[in-house]
Amino acid sequence: MTDLFRALKIEKVDDKQTINLVDISENDLMEGNVVVDVTHSSLNYKDGLAMTGSSPIVRTFPMIPGIDFSGVVRSSEDSNFSIGDRVVLNGFGLSESHFGGYSERARVSSNHLIKLPENISNKQAMAIGTAGYTAMLCVLGLEDSNIKPTDGDILVTGSSGGVGSVAISILSSLGYSVIASTGRLSETDYLKSLGAQSIIDRNELSEPSRPLGKERWVGAIDSVGSQTLVNVLAQTKYGGAVSACGLAQGMDLPATVLPFILRGVSLIGIDSVMAPISKRERAWGRLSKDLDMKKLSEMVVETSLDEIPKFANAIIEGQVRGRVVVNIS
Ligand SMILES: NC(=O)c1ccc[n+]([C@@H]2O[C@H](COP(=O)([O-])OP(=O)(O)OC[C@H]3O[C@@H](n4cnc5c(N)ncnc54)[C@H](OP(=O)(O)O)[C@@H]3O)[C@@H](O)[C@H]2O)c1
Repeated sequence: MTDLFRALKIEKVDDKQTINLVDISENDLMEGNVVVDVTHSSLNYKDGLAMTGSSPIVRTFPMIPGIDFSGVVRSSEDSNFSIGDRVVLNGFGLSESHFGGYSERARVSSNHLIKLPENISNKQAMAIGTAGYTAMLCVLGLEDSNIKPTDGDILVTGSSGGVGSVAISILSSLGYSVIASTGRLSETDYLKSLGAQSIIDRNELSEPSRPLGKERWVGAIDSVGSQTLVNVLAQTKYGGAVSACGLAQGMDLPATVLPFILRGVSLIGIDSVMAPISKRERAWGRLSKDLDMKKLSEMVVETSLDEIPKFANAIIEGQVRGRVVVNIS
C-alpha cells in the first residue's frame, strides 16, 4: 500500500489560485538526495505573498508552499547526513521552484540542509524561522561594519513583525540600545519586553523628507524599504550602517546619495534565500548563543497545517505579531 502523508498544495487554473490540504506520496515529491520528516514550518511575509498569489513568488504549479522547515532525516543518499539528524532549511527556492515546508515530508538537496545546533529544538528553529535567521544576518552585517554597542542606538523598523521582533531581542542581548519603529503603538509593552529601550511611531519615517536629517542612530535593521529606508539612511550618524532586508512598505528606494558621500553611511544588502552554507552556519551558530529562548517563546503563536492559510492575508496586512510556528507532525 502507498505510504501517504499530508501537504498543502497551491494550484493555478485560468489565473485563479487555489490552496488545499491533500494526501500525497514520496513519488509526488521533487528531486533530492535527502528525505526529511518535517516536524515544523513557519509563516513569513513571503509565505503570505505565495499563498494569496499577490506577488509572483511561486514559479511553477502545482506547488507546496512554506519557505522553511525543520525536521528529522528519514533517508539519505549523502553520507554527511544520517537517519535521525535534526535539520533546518531556509529558502533555496522552497515554495518558489521546489516543494516547501507545508508538508509532512520533504525531499531536498543535501547541499541546502544545515544540521541544527544541539541547543535549538525543532520547534525553536521554526520559531526563529526565515525571519529570525534573516534578523541574525542583519545583526552580523552591522557587526561586520564594526558597529559596537557603545557607538550609539540601533533602529529596528517593522519592529512588531517577525524580523523586527527577533532583531530587537538579539540586539538587546548583545548590549545594544534599540529604538523600535512601529505602526502599532499598542504593542509598546511587547516591544519593551523584547528589549527595546524606546519606541517611535513609524509615521515619523514613512513620508518624504529632507535628504539629510538630524543624526539619530548609528545603525539600523530595516524590513520596510521604500521611503522609510530613505529616511532611516538620512538620519544615520556619520560612519553608521544600515542592514536592509525587506519591502513591507514597498520595493522602491527614492533616495539621494548624500548619506553615503557626506556621512560615509553604509547600506548593507541582506539576502537569506541564496546565502551560502558557511554564512547560514555562522548565523545559526550565533542564534544558538545570542538569542534569548525565553523571549523567543513569548513572541510565538503555534498553528497547524490546516489552519495556516487563514494567516496568509493577516501577515501581508501587517496584523501578525512576532512569529507563527506551524506544527506539522
Ligand atoms: N531579504 C531576505 O532574505 C528576507 C528574509 C526574510 C524577510 N524578508 C522581508 O522582510 C520583511 C519582513 O518580513 P517578516 O516575515 O518579518 O514580515 P512581518 O512579520 O509581516 O513584519 C513586517 C512588519 O513591517 C511593518 N509594516 C507592515 N506594513 C507596513 C507598511 N506599509 N509601512 C511600514 N511598515 C509596515 C509591520 O510592523 P509594525 O506594525 O511594527 O510597524 C509588520 O509587522 C518582508 O518584506 C520580507 O519579505 C526578506
